[in-house]
Amino acid sequence: MKKIAITALILFIFSCSSVDTEVEKEMLQLTTEELSEFDGQNGNESYIAVEGTIYDVTNSIEFLSFNLESGKDLSEEIKQISSWEEFLQSLEIVGTLLPDLPIRYEITFLGKNGEVVNKEVYENLDSLTFPLTKTYGGYRFVKWSEPVEISEEVLDTYILQKLNVSSEYEKIYMTLEELSQYDGKDGKDAYICYEGVIYDVTNNPSWPNGVHRGFINAGQDVTELFKNSGAPHSSANITNLPIVAFLSEE
Ligand code: HEM
Repeated sequence: MKKIAITALILFIFSCSSVDTEVEKEMLQLTTEELSEFDGQNGNESYIAVEGTIYDVTNSIEFLSFNLESGKDLSEEIKQISSWEEFLQSLEIVGTLLPDLPIRYEITFLGKNGEVVNKEVYENLDSLTFPLTKTYGGYRFVKWSEPVEISEEVLDTYILQKLNVSSEYEKIYMTLEELSQYDGKDGKDAYICYEGVIYDVTNNPSWPNGVHRGFINAGQDVTELFKNSGAPHSSANITNLPIVAFLSEE
């Protein structure tokens, strides 16, 4: 009787733990390139893909006898083996292979407190050289982490890989003297200052060569000028422009 009870208890514990692992195990979604890392070399797991499904062959002695390399899509090769269907059925499915589409990277730059500072899509990560020298909306990044992959989404013509970069950034300040250099003349950029914020009008069609309405020049603080100009538009025409810096207090 005691023996039966102990056996039942062992079976119960066993069944609980196997349910747990099933729940915990998340299906992988790998690109062909990511799959190539599961080649069974240097302690790596050994996975193969067949018709879009990824199988674990790490502990398969039968797979070794086929003389095939893992970390690859073996849809064609595996079918040369007799009883290949039974072989696949004996393996654990660990995920799916993503179609061979180009990958784009959506990088979300997070600030110190996890706030989203900027989001950009890159064709490849090589163009995103770290350390970053870019500035965003009047801020310059001073510290950042390597991109961390968050998720992958298969779209019609490409795969969108979403990554986060944690960063610290500081405000960019500009003096009135520095601002005066940005007058839009001779190919220079054109900036205007309004209520302590410096905006970029370089590519704004209403500011050709840094001049608006023939008499308002870039490279200066236009706050007072705007209020007295009788402009037939609101200040939102200015505050919606891209920010490049903030006016230095000095
Ligand atoms: C310091 C004074 C002024 C500032 C800083 C200013 C700023 C701007 C900016 C930044 C835009 C572009 C907005 C956009 O494209 O979204 C704009 C557009 C425009 N502004 Fe001004 N403005 C000033 C004075 C005036 C005055 C005096 C007039 C008319 C006499 C005027 C008439 C217009 C018009 C009609 C537009 C619409 C686009 C166009 O037709 O060029 N603005 N302004």
